[in-house]
Amino acid sequence: MASFPGVEHGATTGMTGQTLELAVIIPTYNERSNVPLLVERLKNALDGVSWEAIFVDDDSPDGTADVVRELGVREPRLRVLQRIGRRGLASACVEGMLATSARFLAVMDADLQHDESILPVMLAAIRRGDVDLVVATRNASGGSKGDFARKRALLSDFGAKLSGVVCKTRLSDPMSGFFMLTRSCFFEVVRKMSNTGFKILVDIVASADRKLRLAEVPYTFGLRQHGESKLDVNVGFEYLYLVVDKLTHGLVPVRFAMFLLVGGSGLLVHMAVLSFLFVVLHAQFLIGQTVATVVAMTWNFFLNNTITFRDARLHGWKMLRGLLVFYLACSFGALTNITVAQFAFGHAWPWVLAAITGVIVSSVWNFAVSSIFAWQRKGSG
Ligand code: GDD
Ligand code: MN
Repeated sequence: MASFPGVEHGATTGMTGQTLELAVIIPTYNERSNVPLLVERLKNALDGVSWEAIFVDDDSPDGTADVVRELGVREPRLRVLQRIGRRGLASACVEGMLATSARFLAVMDADLQHDESILPVMLAAIRRGDVDLVVATRNASGGSKGDFARKRALLSDFGAKLSGVVCKTRLSDPMSGFFMLTRSCFFEVVRKMSNTGFKILVDIVASADRKLRLAEVPYTFGLRQHGESKLDVNVGFEYLYLVVDKLTHGLVPVRFAMFLLVGGSGLLVHMAVLSFLFVVLHAQFLIGQTVATVVAMTWNFFLNNTITFRDARLHGWKMLRGLLVFYLACSFGALTNITVAQFAFGHAWPWVLAAITGVIVSSVWNFAVSSIFAWQRKGSG
């Protein structure tokens, strides 16, 4: 490896000639009033440490990036990476982490909800060299969610439980957005990350092939001072995407996996409606089966419209049109299913295999056709 005089052990900061040790990556969207306060707090908390802060701003309409640049004139430790035409908390953090030479990378929010005074404690833990990742946790003794709304606390707990399915490392607060890791650990996982949504910590931990060496530091989640939270229902769905992507190891496209999950729930709905009509009301089987099919297709359409194709969601007349197209696509799908299965069965395939092949072919058909014609999405993904 080529070496340059004075930088054998990492980058040197222009001001002091010290080795750059810590980069604090701060994703921002409309945080202009919080930035100056946060910078002051970081300066106090990290006194004596060689650090820099990288704000990754998604072209906030309130001009957050300009505020950072103005402060940066006097404070070269502050940098801003302004992304135009992009949104996303996780990808913002990843790009910020890629833009620094520091040995240790911290991620924290700009809104002062993360207690910066524990940064030195986290740094001390990671300096010891026997951990890859230090997480600031609200769920260990000494930590707390502060005045977290009850509904959000429940959601957060559910998300934390779900993360156990994809993470080898047990975290007490997987939903935390406040953590520090070594650069080598980051590079170990970065190419495997999904980069969707808000939950970058789960993404990092689930992308590691091994159990990461972990330390946790408790803190109390503060109240937002200025501006508002960007957390909305989308964040929940994006998180679901992340978990499914990790579960399928990227082999099955996430959208198709969601489509199949919705289809599975449709099967349950179908059976429930059929049992009610046929067993409870003693309706004719054919009538029961027909009504159940229509109800299940309708169920699938609306679920797909809110989850699977959320980004191309249909409203009003377009939704009605989409529903009809979906019915049509599924009818052809059913026909394909029967034809393929019959063909395979006729060629001496075992009946179970023939049936499953029919179902798979028709699912791919339904997915492709409804994605192109009902939700009018072109291309894959
Ligand atoms: N660049 C960029 N792009 N930044 C974003 C975006 C985006 O699309 N959306 C949000 N941010 C920034 C915000 O400006 C803030 O600094 C930080 O990401 C967290 O966003 P909030 O809107 O304050 O989220 P929260 O407080 O609801 O959630 C936070 O706390 C959770 C713990 O409960 C986040 O840190 C979550 O990751 C964390 O799980
Ligand atoms: Mn916040």
